[in-house]
Amino acid sequence: MKHIFSLFSLLFIFLLQSTPTSAQSPAVAPASPGPTNLTAILEKARQFTTFIRLLQTTKVADQIDTQLDTSNQGLTIFAPTDNAFSNLKPGTLNSFTDEQKVELIQFHVVPSFFSPSQFQTVSNPLRTQAGGSEGAFPLNVTANGSQVNITTGVTNATLANSVYSDNQLAVYQVDQVLLPLIFFQSPPPAPAPLKSKKATSSPDSSSGTDDGSPSDSSGENCLSKNQFFAFISSIVLVLLALS
Ligand SMILES: *[C@@H]1O[C@H](CO)[C@@H](O)[C@H](O)[C@H]1NC(C)=O
Ligand SMILES: *[C@@H]1O[C@H](CO)[C@@H](O)[C@H](O)[C@H]1NC(C)=O
Ligand SMILES: *[C@@H]1O[C@H](CO)[C@@H](O)[C@H](O)[C@H]1NC(C)=O
Ligand SMILES: *[C@@H]1O[C@H](CO)[C@@H](O)[C@H](O)[C@H]1NC(C)=O
Ligand SMILES: *[C@@H]1O[C@H](CO)[C@@H](O)[C@H](O)[C@H]1NC(C)=O
Repeated sequence: MKHIFSLFSLLFIFLLQSTPTSAQSPAVAPASPGPTNLTAILEKARQFTTFIRLLQTTKVADQIDTQLDTSNQGLTIFAPTDNAFSNLKPGTLNSFTDEQKVELIQFHVVPSFFSPSQFQTVSNPLRTQAGGSEGAFPLNVTANGSQVNITTGVTNATLANSVYSDNQLAVYQVDQVLLPLIFFQSPPPAPAPLKSKKATSSPDSSSGTDDGSPSDSSGENCLSKNQFFAFISSIVLVLLALS
């Protein structure tokens, strides 16, 4: 009985140490020299108030800050000016659902760092942050010297100038709001069975870049608890058999 008890406490300690892996990574982050604040960068440039507002209402700004803090992959952001937003056909933004607004903003974020010279050799199409890992929201970048164009199939934009660049984050001003082609195509057939299947098999493909979402981590906790209890019961069974 004593053995079983000490075994339980050992396992309990093991469980306490092994579960909060996600809580450990933020503790490591403060080692970097202060977080990059995209909102502050854009505010300083003064002509991105609509983009900033949308980054905030869609919570994409939070995702970006988290990514910059926790990943070394780098990000490139195409920031449309206020002028670009006012050049949209009237009612365009309002015609989008809340989900589409999130996708629209994520479409302006490429999950790798590109310096201007790296655009010369980019391999198209480029995957954007929208639509998760499925690449359903691509865009093409073509460059010739200092001239860099972006095309989505709906929008042709020109890269105006660099707003910010370190080795992790590049922010470029663009003269058009980049509209995803998929918004203007007829929806793909029979998405319903595919979606429910994906929700159970791989939660992160449906939630896209929403890495630290609570539903994901609670799902992992459930799994590890089940494994934990299975582990305990087998140990108890072995001990009972031995005694
Ligand atoms: C980022 O900058 C904005 C605007 O300057 C500020 O309101 C916000 O609190 C900052 N966020 C962080 C996490 O420092
Ligand atoms: C960029 O687009 C302009 C037209 O808007 C075109 O004249 C130019 O050739 C394009 N440049 C590249 C590198 O695609
Ligand atoms: C790139 O620009 C040069 C002039 O600066 C032009 O001669 C050349 O045709 C352009 N190439 C492409 C692919 O647009
Ligand atoms: C983007 O580039 C790819 C590869 O070159 C091409 O197949 C695709 O048609 C291009 N899309 C647009 C919208 O230009
Ligand atoms: C974008 O550019 C392509 C070729 O450069 C052209 O065929 C297309 O009509 C343009 N689309 C828009 C919306 O200007």
